[in-house]
Amino acid sequence: MTNPVNPDRVYIFDTTLRDGEQSPGATLNVDEKLTIARQLARLGVDIIEAGFPFASPGDFEAVHKIAQQVGVEGGPTICGLARATRSDIETAGRAIAPAHSGRIHTFIATSDIHLKYKLRKSREEVLAITSEMVAYAKTFTDDVEFSPEDAGRSDPAFMYQVLEAAIAAGATTVNIPDTVGYLTPSEFGQMIKGIADHVPNIDQAVISVHGHNDLGLAVANFLEAVKNGARQLECTINGIGERAGNAALEELVMAMHVRRSYYNPFLGRPADSEEPLTNINTQEIYKTSRLVSNLTSMFVQPNKAIVGANAFAHESGIHQDGVLKNRLTYEIMDAQSIGLTDNQIVLGKHSGRNAFRTRLGELGYELADQELNRAFLKFKDMADKKKEITDWDIQAIVNDETQQAPEHFHLELVQVSCGDHSRPTATVTLRTPEGEEFTDAATGTGPVDAVYRAVNRLVDIPNELIEFSVQSVTAGIDAIGEVTIRVRHEDRVFSGHAANTDIVVASTQAYLNALNRLYVVLQGGQFIHPQKGEMTAAAAARV
Ligand code: KIV
Ligand code: ZN
Repeated sequence: MTNPVNPDRVYIFDTTLRDGEQSPGATLNVDEKLTIARQLARLGVDIIEAGFPFASPGDFEAVHKIAQQVGVEGGPTICGLARATRSDIETAGRAIAPAHSGRIHTFIATSDIHLKYKLRKSREEVLAITSEMVAYAKTFTDDVEFSPEDAGRSDPAFMYQVLEAAIAAGATTVNIPDTVGYLTPSEFGQMIKGIADHVPNIDQAVISVHGHNDLGLAVANFLEAVKNGARQLECTINGIGERAGNAALEELVMAMHVRRSYYNPFLGRPADSEEPLTNINTQEIYKTSRLVSNLTSMFVQPNKAIVGANAFAHESGIHQDGVLKNRLTYEIMDAQSIGLTDNQIVLGKHSGRNAFRTRLGELGYELADQELNRAFLKFKDMADKKKEITDWDIQAIVNDETQQAPEHFHLELVQVSCGDHSRPTATVTLRTPEGEEFTDAATGTGPVDAVYRAVNRLVDIPNELIEFSVQSVTAGIDAIGEVTIRVRHEDRVFSGHAANTDIVVASTQAYLNALNRLYVVLQGGQFIHPQKGEMTAAAAARV
């Protein structure tokens, strides 16, 4: 069955800032979300799900600002998530209002298990809420998306009824989530075909898919859905998201790009059509992946498809020989098609502010004047220590600058003494926004342990360090070290990240970065998870 409202291409709905941010420890502040949203617009996504505005004032502000600044004419549609309740929908409606094109995405579960244990509602009640809430969302915007949560485990006949009701009430997109990542590709494809065949008014809505990667099948499931009529894919950069994550945008887009002759006929095109299947500017993929990885402190595994460090590396002698003779022997796509260039040396100690700003722009960063000033000072400082500054160094400086959570504890001084004949000892001075300074010292098993113990004597927030990693940004003795840490407070995970040529300084800043994020959440009190309900900041940990 063909769907007249469906486009002859596939819409990309990016939910990095909503479902992606639900990854433990991936919390982003408003400025970080804006930075990512701007890059998503450059990447060419059709819709940005910018957050769940009812969750907290911070989430509302982020969606509102993205709607204002990124949702401009010609830009992507800005979407806010809302449970099927009046207060959620009204809040989402206000948050997306400034966007030239704004969407409300509302959802309610349809599987019996969710109805019985989570919603404690009958099927009749869910059906009635769907019609009423979609109609209510329509009073804020024409563009309303509806999802039957846990569709993958719902009774198909009931789901068809709910979808029919949602479309009759005005939903223009119906999104089919495999919330727990349970289905196999052929089952997922059949589910989409069933919807296309059995929902009588399906020709008035775009079929979208959303899925989690618990069994590693999300991307395969989506590709099967496209073959069966889905025309919107909900995905995230690097596949981040709840639990095992969401379907990865870069994998979906490149699969449809590289294998377009296979997918073209499913969209009614001749197999040899060169017209792109999505609007994504593939050359922005790598940059977007790095940006999201740096800002969320979520590493990309080296063997990750498309954007992993090894994805285009040809280590073995046989492969290198083949690639040198003809690239096509071992490569199905060109590294340049995702914007992967050599790590070029771009700036040096004589480069001025303008050159620095221009290169930042080319890398996808737009900094406010104050941030730019601070980043430029860091750049100059680094250029004194390191002769050649590469793109990766610049990214490390900027991420360090933009990634700092609003600071409550500011590092004034850190000093360590260590060595094979001394007991590692650290002295730390912190400053609060009120200008008070506190100093303490501690010994530890090593310099970083000593620093963390000294900080803990000054900052009374119980936490457990669960991850500590140092990576060198570039090769060489003068390389910048990037430190990423995760701490757990009452089960909730917070990440911290910092870069410096001195890894003890970077470690201290990364720790304070995580403590500052934790402090903000503790001050904020209540946090609401869209799928699991209201909880205190501490309980939010378990999501
Ligand atoms: O996984 C899910 O079901 C969701 C819905 C809110 C669409 O994220
Ligand atoms: Zn989800």
